[in-house]
Amino acid sequence: VETYSFEPVRLDDQEGVLVILDQTLLPNETKYLRLAVLEEVWEAIRRLRVRGAPAIGIAAAYGAYLALRNNPDWGLGDGSGWPREVETLFATAKNRLASARPTAVNLFWALDRMDSRLKALKAESVKGMEERGKTASLGLSLGLGAGWRKDILAALRDEANAIRNEDEAACRSIGEHGLSLLKKGWGLLTHCNAGALATARYGTALAPIYLGQERDYGFKVFADETRPLLQGARLTAWELSQAGIDVTLICDNMASIVMDEGKINAVLVGCDRVAANGDSANKIGTSGVAILAAHYGIPFYVHAPFSTIDFACVDGDDIQIEERAAEEVTEKWYSRRMAPLGVKVYNPAFDVTKANLITAIITEKGIAYPPFSLSLKALASS
Ligand code: MRU
Repeated sequence: VETYSFEPVRLDDQEGVLVILDQTLLPNETKYLRLAVLEEVWEAIRRLRVRGAPAIGIAAAYGAYLALRNNPDWGLGDGSGWPREVETLFATAKNRLASARPTAVNLFWALDRMDSRLKALKAESVKGMEERGKTASLGLSLGLGAGWRKDILAALRDEANAIRNEDEAACRSIGEHGLSLLKKGWGLLTHCNAGALATARYGTALAPIYLGQERDYGFKVFADETRPLLQGARLTAWELSQAGIDVTLICDNMASIVMDEGKINAVLVGCDRVAANGDSANKIGTSGVAILAAHYGIPFYVHAPFSTIDFACVDGDDIQIEERAAEEVTEKWYSRRMAPLGVKVYNPAFDVTKANLITAIITEKGIAYPPFSLSLKALASS
């Protein structure tokens, strides 16, 4: 599918920078930022310059790699088979990046993968050191400074690239599975942005729509504006119209009328964390759309790569919901403040759609149907 030309997250390893499309400037400006420093990557995730669950995982993985790559101060090996400073540097980067946003589990999942890769390399190196005496170690030219530095960086870069590439493949597969549930000419409603901008490529909820476009499905997509940060208006409407897909923007409170008018055959959304029982956290307002869909008898599909499924969360109550600044509600996007000074504001960025409102969860490994506590586990081990 070659329907859009942007790349939301990319590593430029020559320059040692993470290149991201600044999503806060869309749709008015297409500007790429080149981030070399840990704090810049943290800020980009926090401020939603890069956003969407898979994309922030990918950005964090590259961010952790760059934190080591761009730091010349690794000290020297002490003969134990491992340069100790590496662990401190990595842990600092990991903890900092993990603090950028709380809800999307992909952030922690990606950082844990990087951590495991580093630990595996250490175990291999220390073991090699013990086995060979104090001469050399398996795969690592220990004690020779530049040698192990190169090996460690190569491993971390490979892992971050794998996280990115696996996400692209997962999204493509989600697109195929998702499309199998849809019919030509259908009207589809989506909330927030679970598109190419939010992933390595294709998106999750928008992947079936891109594949359908390629195969002349003639979908009519309705995009919820998605207050307060307007991911639907600014991002989904932008990427779908760029791809020549029939997209109509509506305010969030118009979902009921388009459903009542018979314009919607299915709701497709992404998600930030799926609990073991299928409860799914996604952008604020998603659960309201699910309740409406149930009322009108419209199927409600959640699209999630396995990196978004968190079996450690028993149900939605275990998912931490991000709260964001009041000014996103009272001032942002307006030329003047649109709420009285001092008014109390509650601004949760996500809500949890209960499993009983979800028709199916579409993953790269296949489609899970209720009861999700069984079907998700079965897919995981398939
Ligand atoms: O706050 P955001 O814009 O990062 O929220 C994004 C969403 O809620 C998406 O629907 C979700 O991350 C899935 S992206 C494939």
